[in-house]
Amino acid sequence: MWWMMGENGGHYCSKKTDDICGDVCGQDSGRVLSMSRIKCILRGVDLRTMLFLFILVPTCVYGIYLHGQKISYFLRPLWESPPKGFNEIPHYYNENVTMENLCKLHGWRIREFPRRVYDAVLFSNEMDILTLRWKELYPYITQFILLESNSTFTGTEKLLYFANHRDQFKFVEPRLTYGNIGGRFKKGENPFIEEAYQRVALDQLIKVAGISDDDLLIMSDVDEIPSKHTINLLRWCDDIPQVLHLRLRNYLYSFEFFVDDSSWRASVHRYKMGKTRYAHYRQSDDILAEAGWHCSFCFRRVSEFIFKMKAYSHFDRVRFKRYLDPERIQKVICKGADLFDMLPEEYTFKEIIGKMGPVPHSYSAVHLPSYLLENADEYKFLLPGHCFRESG
Ligand SMILES: *[C@@H]1O[C@H](CO)[C@@H](O)[C@H](O)[C@H]1NC(C)=O
Ligand SMILES: *[C@@H]1O[C@H](CO)[C@@H](O)[C@H](O)[C@H]1NC(C)=O
Repeated sequence: MWWMMGENGGHYCSKKTDDICGDVCGQDSGRVLSMSRIKCILRGVDLRTMLFLFILVPTCVYGIYLHGQKISYFLRPLWESPPKGFNEIPHYYNENVTMENLCKLHGWRIREFPRRVYDAVLFSNEMDILTLRWKELYPYITQFILLESNSTFTGTEKLLYFANHRDQFKFVEPRLTYGNIGGRFKKGENPFIEEAYQRVALDQLIKVAGISDDDLLIMSDVDEIPSKHTINLLRWCDDIPQVLHLRLRNYLYSFEFFVDDSSWRASVHRYKMGKTRYAHYRQSDDILAEAGWHCSFCFRRVSEFIFKMKAYSHFDRVRFKRYLDPERIQKVICKGADLFDMLPEEYTFKEIIGKMGPVPHSYSAVHLPSYLLENADEYKFLLPGHCFRESG
């Protein structure tokens, strides 16, 4: 760290200069001595100015260049206050409690027959997580709806990964409504516009799948997986909220890195023709506690990390080429550190400071999707102690 050496060195030099001046100029007065005093002072000023100009200024500029984003994130609590809190609905579950009692515990009544359930996702390339998701939800889903595009949200071309690997998903084929949509490829446009465009197309596809009023519709990203028993509860109970957000446990890279339980974007809707719109933002105040898992960047291959980092809506985060270096990515994954070298996005200093640094390792693999544990050999990379990824 050359700039630290510079600072220490600077301190040392200027102290020495002071001493010299003190010695020479301290006791006596007179023309000759005051001349050397001026020289001393000049020398001092020179040194300090030089130090300032050639070490401190470039250091600061370089520091702001490297960490400007961090500084603005760290100061976020000053300019942004947290959104309004949710109405948290306690979630009761144990496999040996009857559905009638579970509904009652939530203040709801049990229905005579369950609602039909539709699960709709916008797909990019999350093959493994999609399998876990569909296997988890399989018993309760009437139609799986999947839309993919040949454009990423950031407007670069991509393959139709699902179409190319459709044979791996034979188990849902009889209940699958699949669609694809051509990208608009507008360079330099805000990625949220392409995303919104694809969500509108997904709305159409949901209708094609045959949804009708009061059917349940799950709106979430592929990696936001509601647990099986959560969906079973919601389809069996009457009086559940019209729009209900799901509080999911946030994981990073695998189930080894449990971040927090603050994921809230996933939601379940009692469908209303002409009113329900597919969205991924805050749509109501009600949220059900511990309703599943959100596994971000849970990929099998390093190349998938790179793809996702480039295709990500917040693509401005890839500020340096070295962020896409496979060796660096592998190290970051095993440490539980941040791929984009950023500070946690939080609303209070306490939370930011509490979450700085890598995510701690977790050694719990309890209450994870059942298909994952039943097929642990195939999905090792998602379990504690297996951070190494396939290259290429
Ligand atoms: C839970 O229910 C199952 C059958 O539904 C039964 O075999 C099992 O003994 C029950 N376990 C407990 C602890 O009550
Ligand atoms: C994307 O898909 C659309 C419609 O399927 C097609 O017309 C277009 O040529 C494709 N674009 C690219 C770059 O593959």
